[in-house]
Amino acid sequence: METKEKKLNLADKTIFMGDNLPIMRGMNSECVDLIYLDPPFNSNANYAAPIGSKAAGAEFKDTWTLEDVDISWLDLMEAKYPAMHRVIQATMRNSDKAYLIYMAIRLIEMHRILKNTGSIYLHCDPTMSHYLKLLMDAIFGRKNFRNEIVWWYRKFGQGRKNFKKDHDVILYYSKTENCKFTPQYVPFAPKTKPAKYGRKIQNGRVVEDKTVLMKDIRDESRGTVAGNTWEISFVRYNSKENTGYRTQKPLKLLERIIQASSDEGDIVLDPFCGGATTCVAAERLGRGWIGIDFSPKAVQLVEERIKEELYQDIRALKHTPKRTDLRKLPKYNSPENKKKLYGEQMGYCNGCGIHFNYKNLDVDHIIALAVGGTDHIDNLQLLCGHCNSIKGQRGQEYLIARLNSYSKPQPIAWNRKIN
Ligand SMILES: C[S@@+](CC[C@H](N)C(=O)[O-])C[C@H]1O[C@@H](n2cnc3c(N)ncnc32)[C@H](O)[C@@H]1O
Ligand SMILES: [Zn+2]
Repeated sequence: METKEKKLNLADKTIFMGDNLPIMRGMNSECVDLIYLDPPFNSNANYAAPIGSKAAGAEFKDTWTLEDVDISWLDLMEAKYPAMHRVIQATMRNSDKAYLIYMAIRLIEMHRILKNTGSIYLHCDPTMSHYLKLLMDAIFGRKNFRNEIVWWYRKFGQGRKNFKKDHDVILYYSKTENCKFTPQYVPFAPKTKPAKYGRKIQNGRVVEDKTVLMKDIRDESRGTVAGNTWEISFVRYNSKENTGYRTQKPLKLLERIIQASSDEGDIVLDPFCGGATTCVAAERLGRGWIGIDFSPKAVQLVEERIKEELYQDIRALKHTPKRTDLRKLPKYNSPENKKKLYGEQMGYCNGCGIHFNYKNLDVDHIIALAVGGTDHIDNLQLLCGHCNSIKGQRGQEYLIARLNSYSKPQPIAWNRKIN
């Protein structure tokens, strides 16, 4: 379906105003090198910027109900991404489930548009980080989990009833094992004593002592290799980079991520770009960038911040890009699609789980065309005539619920992996 060419189908240095889901769906596969995302955390908060700040008027909701998400996507997940579906079902509360569905459908797109050498950094906090890690394992693969970064900041607080909360979590995954990485350095702790080096000890006795002090061999200007706990102060009220955007992240944090996981000229994407910290850091480091945010106020702030940075007007785009790496899709029920699905499902109906001959299975849209489903093979499945007639134009969840209402639980017979 996809051609070999993996070209970015948008101009570098682009800001989009709109929901990131359709915008990412319009991006070619494997076209970005690094993704940093700092989505809402499901923290039950409404973030509003202080009146009078540059960001005044910007607000986004961070509470979730199942009405907020397109529940039909649960059908697609159940049918095509069973591991991910299990993670979502394991959540305790409906608001967590809604949040994870919202994140999952976006993370699937991020996985698709990331290059094979690319990395993704998901910024969250302990409210949801444990669930998000399971979700990331299901989408990116456990073996591609690279690290958990703890961003620690000094914070005032009483901490009388509990330890005060003073860190965020950044889950770092790559698309494959072949990802880019450049070690980063942090200054030596001021009290580090120069270690001794060059002393040979055998059977507990010093046999050679050409001790050189570490001070002589260490490069003070470079410091020591950074670990996974990063002490970086958050954007202070009176700091120069403060835009007033409540959830603004420090440039230093983004600079470290970008330098570690991309080269000059690479493309960095931030699908929840807020006050554009990622775009500014990428620009300063000679990387290309794409930012997306659906809040008009955030986008206005981005335009202003970028203008100051680049001395150049950038107007946010409001349209959805169109993929250029897809050939014309074959008809949904073409023999080509049917053959592929028959192989993937190993001949089992995707509803009742019974094995059928090729001719007794029909190609069905998991999400009906009427509610935004497409003819893409990712949205297709094979059903037996009986299951197909029960489901009609409804979602897969309806079919499963109906089948489960019969006495025996029905197995889902096949398990399709992504990529
Ligand atoms: C936590 S803030 C990001 C802050 C940013 N990292 C910074 O340094 O300023 C999350 C942002 O995501 C945006 N957002 C939430 N859901 C979105 C969606 N579906 N599509 C695009 N933007 C979204 C909000 O408007 C908000 O600006
Ligand atoms: Zn069936």
